[in-house]
Amino acid sequence: MNRAIPTETLKADPQGLARAAELLARGGLVAFPTETVYGLGADARDDTAVARIFEAKGRPRFNPLIVHLPDIAAARRIALFPDAAERLAGAFWPGPLTLVLPLRPDAGLSPLVTAGNDTVALRLPAHAVARALLVRFGGPVAAPSANPSGKVSPTRAEHVAEGLAGRIEAVLDGGACDVGLESTIVGIGADGAATLLRPGGLPVEVIEDCLGHPLARRGEDAAISAPGQLGSHYAPEAGIRLEARAPRAGELWLGFGPGCEGAAMNLSPGGDLVEAAANLFHHLRAMDALAQTGQVIAVAPIPEHGLGRAINDRLRRAAAPRP
Ligand code: TXA
Ligand code: MG
Repeated sequence: MNRAIPTETLKADPQGLARAAELLARGGLVAFPTETVYGLGADARDDTAVARIFEAKGRPRFNPLIVHLPDIAAARRIALFPDAAERLAGAFWPGPLTLVLPLRPDAGLSPLVTAGNDTVALRLPAHAVARALLVRFGGPVAAPSANPSGKVSPTRAEHVAEGLAGRIEAVLDGGACDVGLESTIVGIGADGAATLLRPGGLPVEVIEDCLGHPLARRGEDAAISAPGQLGSHYAPEAGIRLEARAPRAGELWLGFGPGCEGAAMNLSPGGDLVEAAANLFHHLRAMDALAQTGQVIAVAPIPEHGLGRAINDRLRRAAAPRP
């Protein structure tokens, strides 16, 4: 039986943070802002709380979750840090980078967080509200993006409420997310080999510069399939057509850069990829609301470099055939 839970909207002030931490400590689900997207948080040590994340999102499978921590000392208690991990964490944490690392046997996490694997995904978010919540709660917080499974990730508290009100205890409102795309995920084996598992808010080029060599790319036969790796994901209701230099009759056009006169919205009129990333999910939602049933959203071409790679990755998933 599914009974609706009253979902509190909390201000990002000391009182709201205290309430959010208290709800987490009681096994509650609290959505909170990070610089990438809003996360749906639960105590990563509490099996029931973690299981409720999957239930609230309607996730079809127990995919492993990212564990959010306030500082590197907390991260070291959960995972081993091969040299490459030390280097990337030193350069990019806190920030929009998730590292998948060898799990310490004594980490104390619910096995649901890692889906029973011997690796764990860790992230130190840079957002001040996320950090304040993690410090106040004082434990590891498992958090996928705070959207129903398969839908567009939320970059504002209102998006979270649209998708999950009645299924979670609270949303901590920290305004719009700066980066607007999920974190880049890099896996690092015990031997130090680094593999790109998901492009995201930290450009791949910047990571490769730091390591001094290219990242391996995930093979098709990878043992763990991340939902970000499935065909259709981040899906709006409307159909999507990519690489649209102009709209066809009846289409709504989502522009990028100058020269998109007649576009219903523009991801970045000046052609700035950082601005486009920050706007992506918000604009997709707004265009979806504008679209009539069956209408197609045509999206202007986005250059395939820097954050453009992650933007195109998300757009290709949004355009993929629906299951
Ligand atoms: O920016 C982000 O990363 C946001 C914010 C809230 O931190 N979180 C997010 O979580 O995007 P989620 O669950 O939507 O995506 C996490 C991805 C999934 O594709 C999952 O399969 C992968 O991380 N993942 C988690 N643990 C893993 C592991 N041990 N090995 C491989 N992939 C893992
Ligand atoms: Mg997600």
